[in-house]
Amino acid sequence: MGHVLAIDQGTTSSRAILFDGAMRPVASAQEEFAQHFPQSGWVEHDPADLWRTTVETCREVMASTGIDVAEIAAIGITNQRETTLVWDRATGETVHHAIVWQDRRTAAMCRDLKAAGQEGRVRDITGLLLDPYFSGTKVAWILDNVAGARARAEAGELLFGTVDCYLIWRLTGGRVHATDATNAARTLLYDIQAGDWSAEMCALLDVPIQMLPDVRDCADDYGETDPEIFGAPIPIRGVAGDQQAATIGQACFQPGMLKSTYGTGCFALLNTGDSPVASTNRLLTTIAYQLDGRPTYALEGAIFIAGAVVQWLRDGVKLIEHAHETHALAEAADPGQEMILVPAFTGLGAPYWAPEARGAAFGLTRNSGPAEFARAALESVGFQTRDLLEAMHADFAFHGDTVLRVDGGMTASDWAMQFLSDILGAPVDRPEVLESTARGVAWLAGMRVGVYPDMDGFAGTWAMERRFTPKRDDDWRDARYAAWKRAVAATLIAAG
Ligand code: G3P
Repeated sequence: MGHVLAIDQGTTSSRAILFDGAMRPVASAQEEFAQHFPQSGWVEHDPADLWRTTVETCREVMASTGIDVAEIAAIGITNQRETTLVWDRATGETVHHAIVWQDRRTAAMCRDLKAAGQEGRVRDITGLLLDPYFSGTKVAWILDNVAGARARAEAGELLFGTVDCYLIWRLTGGRVHATDATNAARTLLYDIQAGDWSAEMCALLDVPIQMLPDVRDCADDYGETDPEIFGAPIPIRGVAGDQQAATIGQACFQPGMLKSTYGTGCFALLNTGDSPVASTNRLLTTIAYQLDGRPTYALEGAIFIAGAVVQWLRDGVKLIEHAHETHALAEAADPGQEMILVPAFTGLGAPYWAPEARGAAFGLTRNSGPAEFARAALESVGFQTRDLLEAMHADFAFHGDTVLRVDGGMTASDWAMQFLSDILGAPVDRPEVLESTARGVAWLAGMRVGVYPDMDGFAGTWAMERRFTPKRDDDWRDARYAAWKRAVAATLIAAG
């Protein structure tokens, strides 16, 4: 007893990570699965892949440690957010592939709703924007494009869920149709202040409210796994969207604390406490976590291209063979050149929300080469993070200094983290355990079953591996950031 199994069902892979009684990761397994791009801008997952890779990785971790199922006190589930599934209540069969958060197929619907003047009301209720990113318009698309689906949904035969909800449904053998408040808050159907599904949003997006799951706390009772799956039932007791789980894993429990996760993209969440803060800078207002029925809110900024810019250096322009080369290359760049890369490969996210923008490079000379591109690529991540923090500062009154807690693959680069601290003019803290997402949801589940400490106890276990502090002065910072802003402005003009 005393172990907790974290399931992290992400956009490109499923992972299972086993934590021991001291919250240390002791084993993990990971499996990638196919991405489907049926049309330009469309991204789908086969639900069977999500399910298969989840179960296989869990079984692999258990087998690799030889642990008995009875020693696993609880399961926590964290997931790619917004990705949308619809399935038959009686058979469990999905009526369509999962439509992934990155999918843009409902852009026209969002544009029409915006043109009809609906965005203000949508922001008030959900804290979100009218963008295809979120689940609501994706559900409507499925109901309108799968023959007979709308009638079946209205008759109560079909269920909707984000990935957490779908996995809970399947893990419990169809007994539990539930999600947590953080995932609900990403659907465009949830009233984040009332703490309930919004009949008004369901009517606006034409989604039958009876399809929606029960919404619970992040540390709550989500039933037990069907004994057939792992040999014995395991309680599911923790659920949170992946960015929220990372916020929890980074112990950002006080208003003003923020974390930034650098994966393919980058998601920064700022804890704003027990009342939601409306953004006037196009950040999202969302739920950081909900415990004992009480939501804690966050401001969120999403950047679409962070680590992906290094992938582009490797796979797109082939300037490097391995991602880890970027760091040394950036160090070797000519300090006299000030090249700027705006990696708007899939548009720009917060605070610009410019889906039509495309990437651009500025300040090229005859001497610009791989080293300058590598440096500009890493710097672009720092500049974009500064954009998010500028917006957060404009929306929220910080008391005391801003400290950024970071996690995700890119944080392994000391060079990138030092630049980040320099351009922000703020400390950047890299924790000892970089598994923030899995650790966050493991804590939720373990705390709920009493094997892990309470919130204060957990916060006390957060340990820093290294703090990066600014080495540059304000003049340097301001000049570099001004150059970035000019580059973004030119990129937006080029997009028309
Ligand atoms: O909002 C999307 C985000 O939750 C996806 O995260 O890590 O699966 O790319 P990730």
